[in-house]
Amino acid sequence: MKVLVATEKPFAAVAVNGIRDVIENAGYELELLEKYSSKEELLAAVANADGLIIRSDKVDAEVLDAAKQLKIVVRAGAGYDNVDLAAATSHGVCVENTPGQNSNAVAELVFGMTVMAVRNMYNGTSGTELKDKSLGIHAFGQVGRNVARIAKGFGMKVSALDPYCPDEVMTDAGVEPIHSLEELYKNNKVVSLHIPATDETRKSVGYELISLLPKNGVLVNTARKEVIDEDGLQKALRDRTDIKYVADIRPDNAAELEAEFAGRVFFTPKKMGAQTAEANINAGIAAANQVVAFLRDGIDRFRVNK
Ligand code: 3PG
Repeated sequence: MKVLVATEKPFAAVAVNGIRDVIENAGYELELLEKYSSKEELLAAVANADGLIIRSDKVDAEVLDAAKQLKIVVRAGAGYDNVDLAAATSHGVCVENTPGQNSNAVAELVFGMTVMAVRNMYNGTSGTELKDKSLGIHAFGQVGRNVARIAKGFGMKVSALDPYCPDEVMTDAGVEPIHSLEELYKNNKVVSLHIPATDETRKSVGYELISLLPKNGVLVNTARKEVIDEDGLQKALRDRTDIKYVADIRPDNAAELEAEFAGRVFFTPKKMGAQTAEANINAGIAAANQVVAFLRDGIDRFRVNK
């Protein structure tokens, strides 16, 4: 049986070695497709794969059609909006993610970008500190919880909104539960986004919420560009010349925003949140173990499709 690791943005070499060990020790063959630049390369490589490990790589109906032997796709990471779940189900393919494995890496980058924003992108002028400032966490999943933990070290006051998370989980972490989106954006100097991209959340953060941020507010997005209404963001940055937006991925209108709001926006060139050796090792090896557990023993504990 063959397991294909298809990563347009490759894992660290040390993680690839770990993945190879897991796959080969199980008696399977590993094929690596890294930094591919066309969908055709992926379509050709999946043709005889039984298992597939990906990151943000798109797995749509066309890829699934081409993957005649495919039984499982594991997204080495948290968000699986890049996989067409319905198409996978109709092709009889199990889809899994590796929840929590890269969340500390993403949470650390939240602070990397937040410090940069409050220090005015290191332009030589006086900025502000994070100590005693308020942080609102929009969605209290694995990344949000790590963000809260680190924020405590900075001495920040932390609150969070998450309709899917019981209040006690927040209060146990020393985080104040908030139940209104408006309050979350109005009362926090820094708001950090951790909602997944779903039909419910796409373009859900726009002008109305962003323009509520208090004076010198910062919106940090290490989630997905799709959750932002980019026209609304642009309008909010135009009306509110004191606020900043920093994101771990370029929005579609990045060039326009950079030209119009120089010094108030920052975007990583590629999604970098999970791009650490540790996160690559954790998520990559978890993915390899999950592929083996499924192909060998039919275990599908982390399945996200029906
Ligand atoms: C995730 O959903 O796990 C993160 O956004 C990381 O994505 P990546 O594997 O493409 O870096």
